[in-house]
Amino acid sequence: MSKINRRSFFEISALGGVAIGLAPRAFSLSTNKRSEPLARYEKSTYDFSHRELIKIAEKYGSPAYVYDWNMIKDKYLELSKAFKNNYPKVKVHYAYKANTNLNIVSLLTSLGAGAECISEGEMKIALECGQDPKNMILTSNSKSTKELSFAIEKGVLINIDSLSGLKKLIKIIDEKKVKTRISIRVNPDVTTTSTHKHISTGHKFTKFGLMYLNGDIYKACKLALDHKKIQLVGIHSHIGSQILELGPFEKNIKILSKVALEIKKQFNYEIKSINMGGGLGIPYRDGEKELSPKTLARQMGIQLKRKLKSFKRLPELWLEPGRYFVAQAGILLAEVNSVKMTDIRNFININTGFNHLARPVMYEAYHRVRILNKNSNIKKFQVAGNICETGDVLTQMRNLPMPEIGDKVAILDAGAYGFSMASEYNSFYLPAEIAIKDGKEFIIREREDFEDLLRNQKIIRKLV
Ligand code: LLP
Repeated sequence: MSKINRRSFFEISALGGVAIGLAPRAFSLSTNKRSEPLARYEKSTYDFSHRELIKIAEKYGSPAYVYDWNMIKDKYLELSKAFKNNYPKVKVHYAYKANTNLNIVSLLTSLGAGAECISEGEMKIALECGQDPKNMILTSNSKSTKELSFAIEKGVLINIDSLSGLKKLIKIIDEKKVKTRISIRVNPDVTTTSTHKHISTGHKFTKFGLMYLNGDIYKACKLALDHKKIQLVGIHSHIGSQILELGPFEKNIKILSKVALEIKKQFNYEIKSINMGGGLGIPYRDGEKELSPKTLARQMGIQLKRKLKSFKRLPELWLEPGRYFVAQAGILLAEVNSVKMTDIRNFININTGFNHLARPVMYEAYHRVRILNKNSNIKKFQVAGNICETGDVLTQMRNLPMPEIGDKVAILDAGAYGFSMASEYNSFYLPAEIAIKDGKEFIIREREDFEDLLRNQKIIRKLV
């Protein structure tokens, strides 16, 4: 049984749902002036100083994920405001896969976010955090009968990914005789140049969505519109993640508009929603150019209003970002276990690895690293994890100050797809998660222990 800390979950009222005020922007993580990279840290958390982080690591141990609560709130409000200012009807969902800590989910729910879920687990987390099923979407290319049945029973909107998936859903609906809302995921065949190939989801070679290029979308529409128990709410598309260019989003919205017009033409039916997916990137590197939510929202609004002016009622614009809300608010706090200096390469060995932050290995992702409270004797190092694999490095060569054993390390921008992708590989315990709100700390997930590692295992004497 996983240790959901019920007390800290219900203490959420102390964390979430409170009036928003911008946190003071202390930029204290910028103190490592001469180490790499040189620029300020204004994009990663607001107000954690090196000293504060060291104190937290000493008090609660490491590795631990630390989240800046005010930043999550601000990021959500910034993005939803940008869209609401540019289009009459907007619905923002949070893509749970980025981070499913109950407190983060509850905070975003309290701010008005709906839920983009992929599994029964994520749907249950949403419900546990008070989400209204009407604001929930189940999206997956491969949904089980159990997941579909759960979604139907709860009234969650089901995002169709294939004709075969729709036929399977219809069978279940026919048995259950329950009215079900669906949308259709379009594969728009849009490529994203800045995105790693593993997270580029909108081109024709991916497993996602019904092809824009053949007639499958309209076959699916016909099946849905002919069925008494199905309500076709809208169309959906998610072209990829960590996108920093406007172009692919523009192409996508143009294609979605075309599909909406074609549905109207073929079936005399106006869809109610167009979901542009998530994907808005964040600057992981200093100086990386951002795509601002305002620019994105303005363009999406302009395109939709222009293309769909023949609609009696403009469809709602839905979106479902994950990373944008939580990535920059999170730091993975670690500790130096040893420092290896060799003629060939120098390594800073820390007490975590790709088991806790998979992004560098999986997507060659760049995360800024700080050796806390160290600022001099800069050398080239590779930051290495403690997993027994050569690939387990968290950075390539970086200019970093010479650390000592026991020094604390901050890996920045780790709030999205950090903990949610963590595993118990090599039997290391999953890290703790800590929220910092207005200078106060809240443990929002206990560190695992040995008992947690063994849960669900059974010792069968006869097998030994
Ligand atoms: N909607 C759908 C259908 C998705 O598949 C995703 C992400 C999102 C929304 C949210 O995308 P976001 O706004 O977070 O970019 N583990 C990878 C990212 C995988 C994203 C998968 N789908 C990483 O660490 O970069």
